[in-house]
Amino acid sequence: MGEVTPREGIEGITPYKAGESKVAGRETAIKLSANETPLGPSPKAREAFLAAAETMEIYPDGGYGPLRAAIARRFGLDANRIVCGNGSDELFHLLAQAFLGKGDEAIHTEHGFAVYRIATQAAGGVPVEVKETGLTTDVDAILAGVTDRTRMVFIANPNNPTGTYIPIDEVKRLQAGLPGNVVLVLDAAYAEYVQRNDYEAGLELVATSSNVVMTRTFSKVHGLAALRVGWAYGPETIVDALNRVRGPFNVGGPAQAAAIAAIEDTQHVAKAVAHNEEWLEILATRISALGIEVIPAVANFLLLRFPGTDGKTAEAADAFLKSRGLILRPTGSYKLPDCIRLTVGLAEQNEAVIAALSDFMGQGAGA
Ligand SMILES: Cc1ncc(COP(=O)(O)O)c(C=O)c1O
Repeated sequence: MGEVTPREGIEGITPYKAGESKVAGRETAIKLSANETPLGPSPKAREAFLAAAETMEIYPDGGYGPLRAAIARRFGLDANRIVCGNGSDELFHLLAQAFLGKGDEAIHTEHGFAVYRIATQAAGGVPVEVKETGLTTDVDAILAGVTDRTRMVFIANPNNPTGTYIPIDEVKRLQAGLPGNVVLVLDAAYAEYVQRNDYEAGLELVATSSNVVMTRTFSKVHGLAALRVGWAYGPETIVDALNRVRGPFNVGGPAQAAAIAAIEDTQHVAKAVAHNEEWLEILATRISALGIEVIPAVANFLLLRFPGTDGKTAEAADAFLKSRGLILRPTGSYKLPDCIRLTVGLAEQNEAVIAALSDFMGQGAGA
């Protein structure tokens, strides 16, 4: 007799590996492995979540009108062009499901966010990886990777785990060079953190194109990673397709309530951004002074490259940090085996990382 087997291609998917949260043998650890905000969510979001917990037996608003309205107000958008997701991860899957047929190609960059590949394969598509230049998205490499089977391009701007970005002019050049039947997905999960004059998340490009969709998340600066809320802003055709394939209640009620309160608390967001800006610079300066290469970054994390000589490997550093109860994110699965990603934490957590890295790099010196 036959046996159940997943559809062709599913077994070829490498499951997503989340940042670790525990160190064996330790009760507590400092988790700086998943780019979560160290300041937590707005207290108003927590209150809204708890209030919404009073009605857990009731299905949530399947069209999440008030949440879309709050997002639209915040960014001056048309609420009808917004679709929410169970985290932005779900939106990548929905986009792939709606726009990729069997054998269609979706381009992602060399060190791009892992979920693009998974979403592509899960939809029956073929992930196509293109080179980055200097750990940064390379528009020419993407354009050179386009074939007549290409239907989607995913870029994270800024990218995770590299922390680098491309200016909006480059994003526009990419869009202008793509055939009109290719969906350009701009993943702007870390947009709020970027303090650069030449950066834009892509709102205007979405508004003025028919093939660009931007995704955002409540998991990072808003501190609601556990609740799983993301949103996409796109042209009518894309929004309509996403609304057809998504689950009818794909964002929970308490999550919607918390997200509305979070996006309205602009002061809390400003505080988180200011904290990040301050520490991104301090961490970069002090860690590079230790002889560790710090890739210039604009989000809430830093990619650290270890020298690899004299025992100073990323693997050894990771073990050393863990022995101090510090969990960072080794990036071997992102083809960066000599690197570790560090999320900006609270002042004392950052100081603990700097102290541990200093001890690690000092070990055996002069031996
Ligand atoms: C670039 C990028 N996009 C999307 C996500 C996923 O966010 P969400 O929690 O909204 O699914 C992450 C999370 O790590 C990310 O780094």
